[in-house]
Amino acid sequence: MFLVCSFMIAAVHQPVMAKEVLHFLNPAATSVIVDATVGTAGHSLQLVPQLIPNGKLIAIDRDCQALEVAQQRLGEFQSVVTMVHGDFRQLSEILKQQGLSQVDGILFDLGMSSFQLDCAERGFSFLKEGPLDMRMDSKQSTTAAALIHKLSAAELHLILRTFGEERFARRIVSRIIQERGQNPIETTTQLAQLISRAVPKSARYQRLHPATRTFQALRMAVNDEGAALQAVLECIPSLLRPKGRLVVISFHSIEDRMVKRALVHGIHAGWWTPLTKKPVRPSAEEVTSNPRARSAKLRAAQRCA
Ligand SMILES: C[S@@+](CC[C@H](N)C(=O)[O-])C[C@H]1O[C@@H](n2cnc3c(N)ncnc32)[C@H](O)[C@@H]1O
Repeated sequence: MFLVCSFMIAAVHQPVMAKEVLHFLNPAATSVIVDATVGTAGHSLQLVPQLIPNGKLIAIDRDCQALEVAQQRLGEFQSVVTMVHGDFRQLSEILKQQGLSQVDGILFDLGMSSFQLDCAERGFSFLKEGPLDMRMDSKQSTTAAALIHKLSAAELHLILRTFGEERFARRIVSRIIQERGQNPIETTTQLAQLISRAVPKSARYQRLHPATRTFQALRMAVNDEGAALQAVLECIPSLLRPKGRLVVISFHSIEDRMVKRALVHGIHAGWWTPLTKKPVRPSAEEVTSNPRARSAKLRAAQRCA
């Protein structure tokens, strides 16, 4: 399915490990399930038929454009779906506003969607010319261009090292500082070309584009993704009913480490029974049909009774 995103046509996001998500959430016709990252509703569309007639799906995203698409796609299930524009770090408040204190299942499919990546004007892709934006919530004021221009070299270096694990962070930051003193860095391709020139020649033509890690790091910083995940992981045990289930899909090691740490802590505290000993990975067939699934790791746990 294709969607119009302002001037561009973008593909809807193909849900990652959809079967596994259904298996671990195991929704019943009376369950209340939260899709905390509904995106364009790939996973939600698989979940809602299980919730008919007496269940409920609370579908949250901080991206209004994605929510609009999700609302259209979930239209025929509106009797069981409530759409919420919000940040999942406020999950407890969001549920309170819906008159709920605990639910039966919560899904997080972290990171950005293909829908966001494919819209050049959102600025997430180094392969498409667009403004250096990267905001998931366009009501937020800080863009990637703003960070590039206002942060010190030390702050930019910390972002690239922490969120991108970029080994050429020093060279890239020094090129950014040099360039921004002469010309504003305003577009995705401008930054991508600058990064390609900054890294050693041997790193320019690898399988991974040299701008991949810097773009990931900037996106995570613009959207404060690490802090949002940490905050929500701390409150989740109190938001699930006994036997309620948590499923988290992450796409890079930083997020997966945070999830693993929170679950291990909760298992020791007697809150969680693990449903996955090791993270579940997509099958080879899934990766072939949806290469964006290749780095996904799914962890699931059940709230102790
Ligand atoms: C990988 S996509 C989800 C795709 C979705 N599962 C599907 O199948 O269509 C991640 C989504 O999470 C949203 N998101 C990221 N951080 C968020 C946060 N802190 N609060 C709410 N939504 C967030 C993004 O805007 C994006 O739409």
